[in-house]
Amino acid sequence: MSATPASAAAPAAITDDVDLSALNSFGLPARAAHLVRLRSIDQLRELVAAPGWADTPRLVLGGGSNLIFTGDRPGFVLKVELGGRRLLGEDAAGWLIEAGAGENWHEFVRWTLAQGWPGLENLSLIPGTVGAAPIQNIGAYGLEMADRFDSLDAVDLATGALRVFRREACGFGYRDSVFKRAPGRWLIAAVRFRLPRAWQPRTGYADVAAELAARGIAAPSALDVSDAVIAIRRRKLPDPARIGNAGSFFKNPVVARAAFERLAALHPGVPHYPQADGSVKLAAGWLIERAGWKGRDLGPVGSFERQALVLVNRGGATGADVRRIADAIRADVAAHFGVELEPEPVFV
Ligand code: EPU
Repeated sequence: MSATPASAAAPAAITDDVDLSALNSFGLPARAAHLVRLRSIDQLRELVAAPGWADTPRLVLGGGSNLIFTGDRPGFVLKVELGGRRLLGEDAAGWLIEAGAGENWHEFVRWTLAQGWPGLENLSLIPGTVGAAPIQNIGAYGLEMADRFDSLDAVDLATGALRVFRREACGFGYRDSVFKRAPGRWLIAAVRFRLPRAWQPRTGYADVAAELAARGIAAPSALDVSDAVIAIRRRKLPDPARIGNAGSFFKNPVVARAAFERLAALHPGVPHYPQADGSVKLAAGWLIERAGWKGRDLGPVGSFERQALVLVNRGGATGADVRRIADAIRADVAAHFGVELEPEPVFV
């Protein structure tokens, strides 16, 4: 008789009144009325078909690295633990790879690189899961997930039906997608990526270029770029395993050209990134630092010393504490620069 790992065959484990503080990277206190550890689509279908489902509140949880709990959760918290990663096919253009939504993003990226499939290296060390990546179209160091995206499978939580989303249907934008705009509607089950054979390193981002130069690497491999990105992130960003945080707390604001010109006249040297449509993206971290918030706390939450855009839990913070400092920073940046900041994580 061969032993089967318990997790492989186990049905949905449902537990009641569960502490969620270890399941969100900010370490905020909240409890779930019912926590479902979702290991198969069938298990999800059973839940959706059960009486009362339509009226039961639900929250889909991946790595919990992009949400701020402001209170306890009634109903179901669906912790996505759908695993698996595989090569679906390859052709002259490259490789088609699929991963279950519950896979850890960074481990997935490193696995693709180890297999010799380049393309995701700039997105190394981003916290969270594969299934969460399309929701806010994660991006860093000159690459967005959408650049390598092929399609995904999502379950309609109203009906239990499985739907395939090709790229055009996802409405990807800067830290945005149709999934982010319709919270609670879809549960992403698996994501497919196209990784290019005709790969070129993306080293245009100044930090990446400087790190590679410091390492004496002129023609980097994908693994070199990944290693450089990991080093940069470790230097600049707090490790959520040690210091509670949700990554960048605000989106980089995009303003009209005329508004940028006015700002640049007052603040020469303001970092800015011209967009294809003529608008200009500003660096929220710079605005927050210049508004005097870098390294400053309000109660148990502070702006991180080495990257002002990241808010950190100094210990014992609640969602209300996070909201208080976020509002104070927004108000100060608006007063100083006339620019409105928009939070990046989702408040639930
Ligand atoms: N800056 C400051 N002070 C600060 C932080 C930044 O002056 O405290 C300036 C920097 O000197 C630079 C500019 O702002 O001129 C941009 O800073 P950085 O390169 O650190 O990147 P960012 O715009 O602050 C964005 C993403 C990050 C991503 C990095 C690298 C957003 C909201 N954030 O940050 O993504 O890792 O670029 O590509 O777009 C995340 O989304 O959680 C995240 C960490």
